[in-house]
Amino acid sequence: MQVRVVRAAGFSGKTGVPGDKSISHRALLFSALAEGTCRVENLSPGGDVRSTAECLRRLGVEMRALEDGVIEIHGRGLHALRPPSGLLDCGNSGTTMRLLSGVIAGAGVGGTLDGDESLRGRPMKRVLQPLRWMGAQAEGARNPKGDELAPLVFKPGVALTGRSHDLAIASAQVKSCLLLAGLYAEGETTVREPEPSRDHTERMFRAFGVPLHFAADGAVTVSPPRSPLRAPEQLTVPGDPSSAAFWIGAALLVPGAELEVEGVDVNPTRTGFLRVLQRMGAGLEIIPTGERAGDPTATIRVRGGARLRGTDVLAGEVPSLLDEVPILAIVASQAHGVTRLEGAGELRVKESDRLAQLTKGLRAMGVPVEERPDGFLIEGPHALKAADIDAARDHRIAMSFAIAGLVAEGETRVEGAEWADISYPGFFRLLSQMSGGAVQTG
Ligand code: S3P
Repeated sequence: MQVRVVRAAGFSGKTGVPGDKSISHRALLFSALAEGTCRVENLSPGGDVRSTAECLRRLGVEMRALEDGVIEIHGRGLHALRPPSGLLDCGNSGTTMRLLSGVIAGAGVGGTLDGDESLRGRPMKRVLQPLRWMGAQAEGARNPKGDELAPLVFKPGVALTGRSHDLAIASAQVKSCLLLAGLYAEGETTVREPEPSRDHTERMFRAFGVPLHFAADGAVTVSPPRSPLRAPEQLTVPGDPSSAAFWIGAALLVPGAELEVEGVDVNPTRTGFLRVLQRMGAGLEIIPTGERAGDPTATIRVRGGARLRGTDVLAGEVPSLLDEVPILAIVASQAHGVTRLEGAGELRVKESDRLAQLTKGLRAMGVPVEERPDGFLIEGPHALKAADIDAARDHRIAMSFAIAGLVAEGETRVEGAEWADISYPGFFRLLSQMSGGAVQTG
């Protein structure tokens, strides 16, 4: 286990961020299912996207890493995946497991999807049940709570039928799983969500030439395409807004900070964090810079030290800032008044129980947090004091508390700092650079 020690420091700089994790998974998957060769640039360097690449290799997909962040994928077409050679190891990646479940079920190649200890604890009935309704023969390990967990075993050679799914909880992973399965199912497959989740899968369908139908209530329908998926020659993945969020949070907390983050994806289904920060009084400049892989991008400028005020973040807004809640909680601890989060029960089944880990870590740093079943109440501002923080095998917990360490009195130890590599290899190196050396190896 790696320990990084962070002390209070200044913070300034100009940086880009790695390619977006969600778009990177999809760029690989769709290219694999298409005909033709796709060159993907600025692919996320994180462990999660590596897991997707490795699983696809096991399904017979050929890929060639050309240079840093550039990969060439030779599509096999929708119907030519090979039965997997051995276990499909999704590592720590929920996106890999859930999206691939739809493909494995649809393509009828069979296989077993497994993951690390954290992924083995995450709910999978949400994909298995609707896939079984479509005809898949798939089972997970049952737990006493009635959920199903990895390893997930899919029988080969089973044909699917399109269904209309009403999701109880907004989830881009579940939606994507079912739409991918729908590529193979007889008839139409429709997915309706209570709130809109990130729409990267829908945009990829379009980029690969598969028409989708959108209903007025937001429901999306796919039918098996009449012609093969066609890969664009080249796709450049925009910068990950969920990675940019850590630097934006840091700049807001450190008085005198000046930050510029370039090439950030500002797809409206991902920018809830920025909207909440603006409501809190943050000085943000969002300068549009064009488009990458069909998503708008921007340079984001932040000036630190503005007086922030607490705000309410309610259920409808949660999907648009789902992965930013950990850094938002740290920012909220320094805002004046109450920040209330509601309708975020999903945070309990991410890479860790993030509501529990945030409460534990912030309390250890001297912030009284009221933990709720589906959110929290944080009243600020509270001076942070350094603490020993367990990353709980969760990249976003590790990075959020490292940022908290920048404004805490004393030395904050982040235990399990290597988990940052899941989405952001090099995070601690960059943090050290932008803070003038505030990070040490413990
Ligand atoms: C993701 C969807 C989100 C998010 C995750 C990535 C995706 O989960 O938390 O990090 O790429 O589809 P949900 O399925 O809960 O929306």
